[in-house]
Amino acid sequence: MSIKLGDIAPNFTAMTTEGEINFYDYLGDGWGLLFSHPADFTPVCTTELGRTAQLKNEFDKRNVKVMAISVDSLEDHKNWIKDINETQNTTVNFPIIADENQRVANLYGMIHPNASDTATVRSVFVIGPDKKVKLTLTYPAATGRNFNEILRVIDSLQLTAYHSVATPADWKEGEDCVVVPSIPTEEIAAKFPKGYKVIKPYLRMTPQPDKV
Ligand code: BEZ
Repeated sequence: MSIKLGDIAPNFTAMTTEGEINFYDYLGDGWGLLFSHPADFTPVCTTELGRTAQLKNEFDKRNVKVMAISVDSLEDHKNWIKDINETQNTTVNFPIIADENQRVANLYGMIHPNASDTATVRSVFVIGPDKKVKLTLTYPAATGRNFNEILRVIDSLQLTAYHSVATPADWKEGEDCVVVPSIPTEEIAAKFPKGYKVIKPYLRMTPQPDKV
């Protein structure tokens, strides 16, 4: 199954390192990050899960609940977490799904048979409070993901959802944003008190609205 932007994220109940969890109950009315890794006790995955744990405050600030998944056993996950904590100087603070029968991996299309029949690729799904999929990313097994980029996309998604702005190429926190095309230019002044610049009728910039 391939999941596309705007699709409803499939719900599931699965065994994790923090007990049996229903995905929707876990997400509540917040945002979600579901990401897969190819296998336990592998080097790149060890760094990725450690990095995610280190960023807990950043995910919390954005009201994002994190969940990882691979097709290994619960026992392996629990033993591997000890290695992650030791080598990455952190404490894993989110559940990891033990998806030995590949049920959740298949639900989310995380197994790409021409890459590997058995292991999940490095998939990322960001899910909004409406349970719709807002972002999908797929990385190959040998390339660790950039978790600062994942946070940056979440910031952009939340700016669009809550402040009606988009973010331009290479945008970084604090830089000017793009007023979404659905807002007529004559309504910008009332909606964006920090000011705006019309570069072209379709390209209107405004300071980042939620920045003090
Ligand atoms: C890994 O660490 O997961 C990995 C590294 C190189 C190739 C494939 C996987």
